Amino acid sequence: MNDQTPRRYQGSLLERAAARYDLMHEPRVIPALPQEAAAVQPQQRVQPQPEPAPLPVLDLAEAPRVEAPVPAPAAQPVHTPGARPRIAIDRDKLAEEGMLVPGAAVTALAEEFRLIKRQLLNTARAIHRSEPDKSRMILVCSAKPNDGKTFCAINLALSMAAEKDVEILLVDADFAKPDVLHRLGAPERLGLLDVLAGDIDSAEACVLDTDVPQLSVLPAGTRSNADTELLASARAHDVLDALAAANPNRIVIFDSPPALAASPASVLAGHVGQVMLVVRADRTSESDLRESVGLLDGCEQIQLVLNSVSFQPGGRRFGTYGAYYGEGEA
Ligand SMILES: Nc1ncnc2c1ncn2[C@@H]1O[C@H](COP(=O)(O)OP(=O)(O)OP(=O)(O)O)[C@@H](O)[C@H]1O
Ligand SMILES: [Mg+2]
Repeated sequence: MNDQTPRRYQGSLLERAAARYDLMHEPRVIPALPQEAAAVQPQQRVQPQPEPAPLPVLDLAEAPRVEAPVPAPAAQPVHTPGARPRIAIDRDKLAEEGMLVPGAAVTALAEEFRLIKRQLLNTARAIHRSEPDKSRMILVCSAKPNDGKTFCAINLALSMAAEKDVEILLVDADFAKPDVLHRLGAPERLGLLDVLAGDIDSAEACVLDTDVPQLSVLPAGTRSNADTELLASARAHDVLDALAAANPNRIVIFDSPPALAASPASVLAGHVGQVMLVVRADRTSESDLRESVGLLDGCEQIQLVLNSVSFQPGGRRFGTYGAYYGEGEA
């Protein structure tokens, strides 16, 4: 499908996830349904269970490659005295990987993320009164590696940064496989782990501005053998809470490690207001999904996003950017 092809509505996430995973009776993955989404997706009621609330289906199987609107700027940090370091995001690289490109024409992918961000923002608003800072923290997680967490976290951050009156901080919290800066075309820097280790006093000192308005990034930082312990420490609690407290307009998006592969995901879930749980349509089993939901139950709002990316038998993705899956990919 290309950009011009009308997209066929294939049912809400809940309808499809229910068919695939039988999650209709799992209250923890069923938050309140925002009206906007209800208008698009007629709601199914299962009494006496709480009303299920699907996120829109993130059917990204044929996410088109888009042309970057401007030549890619050099992805080097620019140091301005007195200001935060600023990185340039490599638009060509985003386009090559089928991601949203700031300033480019609106694509089907952009529309999908608009729906998803609207739903996340609505839920954030709903829980803001009881948990003002937590409500502005979102963890992007999945059961296993390669499900599309970083893909979704970056796209969500780019999409949310276009909102009025918000500032987005994208945190690379996948300490074992930090990928955010690389995917944005920027070199690694000091980051969250250096702060948790006490080598740097405040996370704000490691935050990088980007050349996308309202979007900044906190790198993962320097790995050690004690990453998990650092994250579970009392200092981590304060550091993570301070990320949201630093700016009332800030929304913090964490790119997480897989829930089933590492314990940091479950620790992080306890700090955030919402978890966006990416489900790989062609791969995530129901038992993996249930186990992940169990591990992430420190957060009451777990929202599923169905990532239907599909692959050719040889492991290459359908579409114009299949070559991204080079040799060595399963
Ligand atoms: N909907 C999609 N459309 C196009 N490409 C996708 C989509 N979802 C994932 N991909 C691609 O699949 C690969 C794996 O995605 P990604 O790195 O985001 O997964 P991950 O869950 O963060 O993996 P890890 O656990 O190893 O960090 C990447 O090359 C990404 O660009
Ligand atoms: Mg990742």
